[in-house]
Amino acid sequence: MVLTQQEEAVLSRINRNRIPGHVAMIMDGNGRWARERGLPRSAGHRQGVETVREVVRFSNYLGIKALTLFAFSTENWRRPAQEINFLMSLPEQYLQSELPELIKNNVKVRLMGDEKRLPGQVRRAIAKGMEATGENSGMILNFALNYGARMEIVRAVQAMLTDLKQGKIKAEVSEKSFAAYLYTAGLPDPDLLIRTGGEYRISNFLLWQLAYSELWFTPLYWPDFGKIHLLEAIKDFQQRERRFGKIPKV
Ligand code: FPP
Repeated sequence: MVLTQQEEAVLSRINRNRIPGHVAMIMDGNGRWARERGLPRSAGHRQGVETVREVVRFSNYLGIKALTLFAFSTENWRRPAQEINFLMSLPEQYLQSELPELIKNNVKVRLMGDEKRLPGQVRRAIAKGMEATGENSGMILNFALNYGARMEIVRAVQAMLTDLKQGKIKAEVSEKSFAAYLYTAGLPDPDLLIRTGGEYRISNFLLWQLAYSELWFTPLYWPDFGKIHLLEAIKDFQQRERRFGKIPKV
């Protein structure tokens, strides 16, 4: 991995043994990035895919174990059809060019979200990516597509009720048994959430899983987010004290 002097400098101040295991990202600001350049919104999304490429490669290089990217929310269907169609072409575009490298780098592709409403083009591309990387044991690259956290929770409750009716489970619920019904089953909760685009909210992303995550916000638009910013976020993360409700260590 070729790094600039500035990136090397920040990297040298990071403890490589304390890299956050699971990083989640809300990739916001593509539209504004494009507008500021007098370009159509699609140009912002296209540039956003370039950032995805770089962030995935670099996350893997740093030893992040799972990377969850919010690529399309259940609310994004409210956008004009033209923009939706463009956004729906991106997973295929990305995977077409990156799949060989993802396979080589031992990255495992995974999907979270309601697949049923996704166009066949997206489902096929993701299925192909999951199939081709299914045996990989390295970083999990988790695409949140047609994802909404409230929907995820309601769906988990429905699935539990179905299993209860069919006698597969008892009428008992624990945090652990409930979490197994979420899309993130088997994944650790995110240690760090990064949101670009200058908004300070969670926007129906991983409401259950973010309970104890460190949150890192930046006004940068997603297409402007780069290695140096991921390093800064990790550096900040390492300076925070995660207490999980306990009292500080003295
Ligand atoms: C929010 O920015 C971004 C999205 C709704 C889409 C994010 C998608 C990508 C970054 C590309 C995904 C890549 C792959 C490979 C699936 P916005 O359009 O709301 O920006 P704005 O708030 O400035 O209008």
